[in-house]
Amino acid sequence: MPNVFILGATSAIAQHVARQFARGSCFVLAGRNGEHLKAVADDLRVRGATNVEVSIADLASTGRHAAMVDEAAQKLGSVDIALIAYGTLPNQAECEASYECANEAIQNNFVSVVSWLTHLAPIFEKQKQGTIAVITSVAGDRGRKSNYLYGASKGGLGIFLQGLRNRLHASSVHVLTIKPGFVDTPMTAHLKKGLLFAKPETVARKIHCAILKKKDVVYVPGLWKPIMWIIRAIPECLFKRMSL
Ligand SMILES: NC(=O)c1ccc[n+]([C@@H]2O[C@H](COP(=O)([O-])OP(=O)(O)OC[C@H]3O[C@@H](n4cnc5c(N)ncnc54)[C@H](OP(=O)(O)O)[C@@H]3O)[C@@H](O)[C@H]2O)c1
Repeated sequence: MPNVFILGATSAIAQHVARQFARGSCFVLAGRNGEHLKAVADDLRVRGATNVEVSIADLASTGRHAAMVDEAAQKLGSVDIALIAYGTLPNQAECEASYECANEAIQNNFVSVVSWLTHLAPIFEKQKQGTIAVITSVAGDRGRKSNYLYGASKGGLGIFLQGLRNRLHASSVHVLTIKPGFVDTPMTAHLKKGLLFAKPETVARKIHCAILKKKDVVYVPGLWKPIMWIIRAIPECLFKRMSL
């Protein structure tokens, strides 16, 4: 059973992914809300996890990343799966009006994740095995006026992961880029729900499967793969006139 390190373990999607691995596994769960983390840890114990430890920190604050990665590696022995799930959906209009707001979104969704990956990569390289799975977004596939700060952060992260996958392939380390579409979680609580919204448990099952099958990139649900293919194929001269 795998030893799993989850960054952003209170995320609805991450909780459901963790449940898929619960029986017999050891976890280190990192997040900023201690009470919520404890509840997630208790849930995993009830579901058969062998050992669950929690690590409380603002994950966007990079100062303790190196120490937290070392602690997790010590607690787990080998880190078989590292899942980076935390993120925020910034208000696009506020980001357009304020660089501070834009910078915070980029720090949270991109820069701090690069820091985690920089500390995690040598551990996996040394182990010569394991999966680094990172939740990006379909929003990173093409910039749109309605959310290009979030999209740019996730898109930049996607490019970083392509390079990391290329680097770690030689060490037999699996790097998975996860691209969800709309998922019904606290992050999207303020949005009107339509047909394209998926449940976090459905998305989690597909992520679990993609980890086991060692996929490189997974759209969840899979319908988003052709949708984003079409969105990317629209010529820029037309796309810039559209309201998406
Ligand atoms: N829901 C969607 O439609 C959708 C679509 C595409 C991609 N995604 C991505 O999926 C991932 C998981 O999101 P979700 O849908 O599961 O939403 P969620 O339940 O709202 O989870 C987001 C999590 O990120 C945590 N977080 C944010 N900033 C943090 C920080 N600085 N330090 C520690 N924790 C932090 C939040 O913790 P607190 O609860 O303590 O704030 C929360 O647990 C995110 O990366 C998101 O961008 C979601």
